[in-house]
This record gives sequence, structure tokens and C-alpha cells, in this order.
Amino acid sequence: MDPRVPALQSRSAVTAIGSYVPQRRLTNEELSALVDTNDEWIVRRTGIRERRIAADDEYTSDLAIAAVRDLLRRYPTATDDIDGVLVATTTPDNPFPSVASRVQAAFGFKAALAFDLNAACAGFVSALQTANGLILSGMYRKILVIGAETLSKITDYTDRSTCILFGDGAGAVLVELAEQGRMLASHAVTDGGGGIHVYASGLSREWNGQHLAGDGRIVQNGREVYKWALSTVPDGVRSLLNDAGLAAESLDWLVPHSANLRMIEAICERLGLPYERALTSAAEYGNTSAASIPLALDLAVRDGRLAAGQTVALYGFGSGLTQAGLLLRWGV
Ligand SMILES: CC(C)(COP(=O)(O)OP(=O)(O)OC[C@H]1O[C@@H](n2cnc3c(N)ncnc32)[C@H](O)[C@@H]1OP(=O)(O)O)[C@@H](O)C(=O)NCCC(=O)NCCS
Repeated sequence: MDPRVPALQSRSAVTAIGSYVPQRRLTNEELSALVDTNDEWIVRRTGIRERRIAADDEYTSDLAIAAVRDLLRRYPTATDDIDGVLVATTTPDNPFPSVASRVQAAFGFKAALAFDLNAACAGFVSALQTANGLILSGMYRKILVIGAETLSKITDYTDRSTCILFGDGAGAVLVELAEQGRMLASHAVTDGGGGIHVYASGLSREWNGQHLAGDGRIVQNGREVYKWALSTVPDGVRSLLNDAGLAAESLDWLVPHSANLRMIEAICERLGLPYERALTSAAEYGNTSAASIPLALDLAVRDGRLAAGQTVALYGFGSGLTQAGLLLRWGV
């Protein structure tokens, strides 16, 4: 470990989880009717089989609220005395008020800090890092951290290189004060110059030599993002393990952002980890950006693979280009 880097301090643990995906399924077959693609290509290149699509009148806050309702069904007292709500999203219902404010209102949480955070596909892990810091500061004790997206509302269904990837969903966890903090190491790195490789177009005219204006839909140079992820994510995961003094073999689960399962296979190979030790949500739900990691966690909690006490590395990466990783002992 680099002696100049202090070990991560933590007085928090993840103690409850819930999730929600919209009813409507969009299969590879259906996409083949929209653009020139086919199930075989999509599965071979991405591992994605279907994704969920929000109804026209269903927005990110609806998904976030439904994920918290699911958490409350399973852990009925979890949100007693909540004092913070953080929502990681790139697709808020409105630029403001925040999705977090809508969640606060839906449940009537008192005295709650509430804000949205946008670090794209690294958003959920960035929000967990933020929650750990807020709890460590002594200012907050019990924070809901939610990753929620309705990417279907900004997906260009005429572009076959992107529309096959994205889907909608939400996952929520409770992060609360714990004397024995369970977060072991944290990592973040950003290459802002690479931001031109995946973006939602908007008002901005030019960035790093590229025009990014447009109607708000997702634009991506998949090749460039793929190369960047493969050349940087394994080092980021290794850095987490080094900081915690752990070998890759002692990792029970790697939970990378579920962008593309082929990419995750390649990342595992570079880390010397069997692919079976990755928890993913892409086959079922596609790339759901900030929601992909909590959805993968909840799939594994529900089928019994993920259990309390296991060592888990969460690693978000994507638009920014930015990455955020967190090594923790699962506490649910
Ligand atoms: C998007 C992605 C699946 C594309 O796969 P790829 O192997 O890189 O494919 P390319 O873009 O190089 O395209 C290869 C060929 O397939 C074609 N193609 C692209 N999408 C296709 C589709 N849906 N169906 C059939 N063919 C397709 C291309 O037109 C190209 O054809 P050509 O060789 O005749 O020009 C892949 O690049 C990827 O997953 N990138 C990372 C995305 C990511 O992680 N994003 C995270 C941030 S949210």
C-alpha cells in the first residue's frame, strides 16, 4: 500500500436493499423490427437479452419510489429516522426539483438532506462514497442511496449501436452508522477529456473539438469506451484490493457496472477472476447506468448468492469519463 494514502475510514454499513423495474420488456426480437440488428449479434457482442422500458407516464422518481417501497416491504423499519436521501441519476424527471426531493415527499421523511448526483454509470458508487463521508462526518446517520434511471426516454431508437444497450430500473440501499465500518477501500478516477465518447446531447456547442448539441439523446463511440474501460477498470479494482491489503482470490464478488457482459468477461480475465464471480444485471435489464450495480446486487441477494459478511468490490464506470469503486463487506 502507498504509505501516503490513508486507509479508508468508515463508520457505515449497507443494511437493506430493494429494487424495481418497469413491467414492459423490450426483447432483442422486438429491436430487430426497429433497426437492422438481430438477437444473435446482440447476445454475442453484449450478452443482453432484454431490457425494461418505463411507461410513457412513468418517470425516474416513480422507479426510485417503487424501489424504496420494495426495500420497506422487506425491511419494514429500515427508514425510521432517515436523515438523508441521495439519488444517482442521469435522467431526473426535471432538472429540478431533484428526484431525491420527490422520494422524500413520497415517504414524508423528516429532516432529510436530499439531492441528486450525476456521475453517470459511476453514480451509485459515487453516492455510496458520499454517504460514507457524510456519516463519518457525524452530520448524518442513516442515508438512503438510490440509483435510478429511465434511459429509454433519451435513447435514440434509430441508432442500432446504442438502442440495443439501454434500459430502465432502480435500486435502493440503506447506508447507516455502524461502529464497525464495513467499507474497506475506495477509488475514483476521471478522464474528462474522454467525455466526448459517450454523452447525452444538449445545449453545449463544443467540447474537446466535438459538437455536442442535439435533442438530448445518447450518443456513443462504443469502441472508444470499450477500450478505455478495458485498459483502466482492472487497475482500478486492483487498487481497491491493494488499499485493503487483499488478494483477488479473497474477493467473493466483483460487481462492475453492467454495460456489456463481454466487456465484463474481459475485465475478469485481466484480473484473473473467474467470470462466475461477477454479479451482473445486463442480461436481464440491459445497461441501466446508475441502477445497474444495485440491480445486480439485488438479483444476487434474492437468489441467495450474495450473503452477509462477503467481500464485494463495486466498480462503476462510464460517461465522464469517470469511475468509482468501493470495496466493502456486505452487511444485509
Ligand atoms: C456498443 C458495442 C456493443 C458495439 O460493439 P463493437 O463490437 O464495438 O461494434 P462496433 O461499434 O465496432 O461495430 C462493428 C460492426 O457492427 C455493426 N453494428 C453496430 N451495432 C449493431 C447492431 N446492433 N446489430 C448489428 N450490427 C451492429 C457496426 O455497424 C459495425 O459494422 P461495420 O463493421 O460494417 O462498420 C461495444 O462497443 C460496447 O459495448 N462498448 C462499450 C459501451 C459501454 O460500456 N458504455 C458504457 C458507458 S454507459
